[in-house]
Amino acid sequence: MDNMFPSEDSIPINESSFRLLRDLIYEYCGIYFDDTSQYLLQRRLSRRVRSKQLNSFQDYYYLLKYDPGREEELNEVIDVLTTNETYFFRESNQLKAFTDEILPELVERKTNEISPSLRIWSAGCSTGEEPYSIAILLLEARIPSHFEIEIFASDISQRVLKVARNGLYTKSSFRATAPKYIQRYFNRLEKHFQVVHDVKKLVNFGQLNLLDEGKLVFVKKMDVIFCRNVIIYFDAQAKRRVIDNLFNRLKPGGFLLLGHSESLINISTQFNLRHFVNDMVYQKSVQELDFI
Ligand SMILES: C[S@@+](CC[C@H](N)C(=O)[O-])C[C@H]1O[C@@H](n2cnc3c(N)ncnc32)[C@H](O)[C@@H]1O
Repeated sequence: MDNMFPSEDSIPINESSFRLLRDLIYEYCGIYFDDTSQYLLQRRLSRRVRSKQLNSFQDYYYLLKYDPGREEELNEVIDVLTTNETYFFRESNQLKAFTDEILPELVERKTNEISPSLRIWSAGCSTGEEPYSIAILLLEARIPSHFEIEIFASDISQRVLKVARNGLYTKSSFRATAPKYIQRYFNRLEKHFQVVHDVKKLVNFGQLNLLDEGKLVFVKKMDVIFCRNVIIYFDAQAKRRVIDNLFNRLKPGGFLLLGHSESLINISTQFNLRHFVNDMVYQKSVQELDFI
C-alpha cells in the first residue's frame, strides 16, 4: 500500500511538474491522478527519474514528452502505475451468465452459418487469469466442433503480458477456483501451477491501449468483450472513449461484460441492458449497422 507521504529517497515533485505529468499520463492511458495524488506519483516514479539519471521531475516530463525513446519509457511508467490485481474465475455469477446463458444464445444464433466462429476479447487482461478462465469455460462448455474459437487478450502493460504468456501462477491466483479445474487444466510445478497447453493455445495476447483508436480499428469484431475492472481508474471522459471504442469492436448482438462495480450510467446509452438469470450484462443491438 502506498503511503501518502514522500519517503526519504524520493525526489521532490513540485506542483507544476505534477500537473504536467499527470495530464500527460491521463492523455496517454486514461488513468487520472487527482490533486491528492501528488505524493503518490512522486513515490512511484522517483525510481524511474533516478534510473534515467535525471535530477528533477520536470526533466523527466520533458523526456516523456520529447525524447525519441519516450514510448519505451511510457511503458515503464504504465508498469509502475497500473493496478493489476486479478485472479482466476473472478465474479462467478457473471461467468455463469456467460457459460449458461450467453454462450448457448450465441451458438444457437450462429449454428447454421457455414463457418461459425466465437470471438471473445479480454480487454485489460492483466496477468492472464481472466482470458485463461474464459478458455477453460469454453473447453468445459463443449462448443460444437465446427465452431472456430478465438480468444484475444490485451493489456497496455508489457510486464503483465509477459507473465500472462508464461502462464505460471501461484496460490493467490486460485482463491476462487474450483479444485476440479486446477486438476484438469494446470500442471503442478515446484512453486507454481502451469496452464496446460490446450488452454494456452486458445489465447492470443497483444499489447493494446484501449484509448489508441488508430490501433483498435485492426481488432476483429467480437461476440463478447470482457472489460472488467479497467475503467474504474478512468474519469468520465476517458470511460466514454473506451466504451465507444469497445462498442465499435462488437458485432451486432454482441455482449459487453464490465466489472461488478462498473456501469454505463452517465457514460453511454448505446447498449441495451440484458437481464439474464445469473447477471445483467450490456448488449449491442442486433439491428445495429456494422460498418466500421
Ligand atoms: C485490475 S486489472 C483487471 C484485470 C482483469 N480484467 C480482472 O478483472 O481481473 C486492470 C488492467 O487494466 C489495464 N489497463 C489500464 N489502463 C489501460 C488502457 N488504457 N488500455 C489497456 N489496458 C489498460 C492495466 O494494465 C491492468 O492490467
